[in-house]
Amino acid sequence: MKWTLQGSLSSGQVHTDAIIIPVTKKQTAEGGVSEAWDPLLKPLAESRLFDGTPNRSFVWPESIEGESRLLIWLGRPEGILTSEQLRLLSAQAGKAAVKSGVRSAAIQIPNTMVNFTAEQTPQDAAQALTEGFILGSYRKPHYKRDAAEQTNLEEILYYIEEDMDAEFEAGWTKGMSLGAAIGEATCLARDLTNLPGNMLLPEDLAQKALQVAKRNGFEAQVLDEEGLVEKGMGGLLAVGKGSIHPPRMIALRYQGRETWEDVIGLVGKGVTFDTGGVSLKRASGMEDMISDMGGAATVLGVMEALGRIRPRVNVVMVIPSAENVMSGSAFKPGDIVTTLSGRTIEVLNTDAEGRIVLADGVTYAKQLGASRLIDVATLTGAVVSALGDIATGAVTNDETFLQELITSSRRAGEKIWPLPSYPEFWDKLKSEVADLRNQTGREGGTITGGLFVGTFADGLPWVHFDIAGTAYLSKERGVDPKGATGVLVRTITDWILKQVQVVMD
Ligand code: BES
Ligand code: MN
Ligand code: ZN
Repeated sequence: MKWTLQGSLSSGQVHTDAIIIPVTKKQTAEGGVSEAWDPLLKPLAESRLFDGTPNRSFVWPESIEGESRLLIWLGRPEGILTSEQLRLLSAQAGKAAVKSGVRSAAIQIPNTMVNFTAEQTPQDAAQALTEGFILGSYRKPHYKRDAAEQTNLEEILYYIEEDMDAEFEAGWTKGMSLGAAIGEATCLARDLTNLPGNMLLPEDLAQKALQVAKRNGFEAQVLDEEGLVEKGMGGLLAVGKGSIHPPRMIALRYQGRETWEDVIGLVGKGVTFDTGGVSLKRASGMEDMISDMGGAATVLGVMEALGRIRPRVNVVMVIPSAENVMSGSAFKPGDIVTTLSGRTIEVLNTDAEGRIVLADGVTYAKQLGASRLIDVATLTGAVVSALGDIATGAVTNDETFLQELITSSRRAGEKIWPLPSYPEFWDKLKSEVADLRNQTGREGGTITGGLFVGTFADGLPWVHFDIAGTAYLSKERGVDPKGATGVLVRTITDWILKQVQVVMD
């Protein structure tokens, strides 16, 4: 999608296929949008086809100065909108535009909706609107034989009827490109997560990561079984053993500073399908386990965003990827495996495989220089019981670090809820025969699962995100479609960008 901005433009000068016009309920009833729009809106309101209810849209063809256009009326809340409201509103615009099948659209930005003076800068507003539009216009791919050909949205124009100054234009333009980078990176994560298990094997995920690396000029490295054995990545090897599609350890490196220090490590669970292995899952709903590489998709999405934005930070991304299936060669309950860290794990349940692959992932990220760690994983069903599909659960060994990420999540319009990590929870990880056990009973499962992974951080600042509830939705909500959400690409990218400002201020 190509994004542009124009000021001092009247509706007659806009030549896109569709024009999106945000209006309030009050304006819909009483007029006062503009001289051009009021007469067109009035009959719609009178016939009750459209009443301006926030986040509802109504599509209506019109001829304007002899040119036929689709008008997309978009209900908006009264007054100046917050970033979150702008993102949501724009997502509705995106949905309506995609449904209408237009190739180009203009979005009118009323000066009564976006405040250019107070705490919200033009940059923030443009970023929120652009992200929202991209997130809302996402289409989940399908594989039907006789699918009708789809028109793609290619051009979006923001237009303002008033004049704009250079400062405004610069801020808005920067916000637009940030929003586009982050929005599209989120859609990349969604696309990967939505791929079924037969279309995304560990090697395919490695290839996808290599594509991201190539496109953005990152250093990349993929370890196959031989490499895994050589390094001693016994955790990932154990989980991958049951599949004829072998595991991979994937690493990307983005160096935005002169020296390779103060490195942020991002680790994502990349289980391309989780049957539970020998500790088999029940059949009902198992198809959703195509999303068990959602954490990997998120960290890869963040890398894509960084590749476009190119902030002055160092980031290493690691994805341990395997397929957790059952066969004669699969790992079994009772097995003891030795991880890359040298720590041993007593496997009590092969369905608690995520923490085992992440153990090697976290150690590897450390070996590659990470000094702070964030891991993202669809780790436990327990987080779904605790927080539903509404909030991501978080566990940490560094409260300040987590608070920074929570602050970013608020800016990004995502929800994270912290869980406690009292010493008593750490105690539950003890095994009689190994350094750790991989199952600790149902109580506090999200916390113990997280702390298991955190053990491998060896005291480095670490935050764990359990996205089992938020990575994949059973029905669309807000800016998110049914299926993969690309959750946390926005939050983590926001936090990383903040690190640059922290250094440069
Ligand atoms: N991938 C699952 C967790 C999951 C559940 C993700 C629901 C998305 C939706 C994970 O590998 C798993 O099976 N966890 C077990 C751990 C248990 C055996 C300790 C669980 O939560 O039941
Ligand atoms: Mn599992
Ligand atoms: Zn899993």
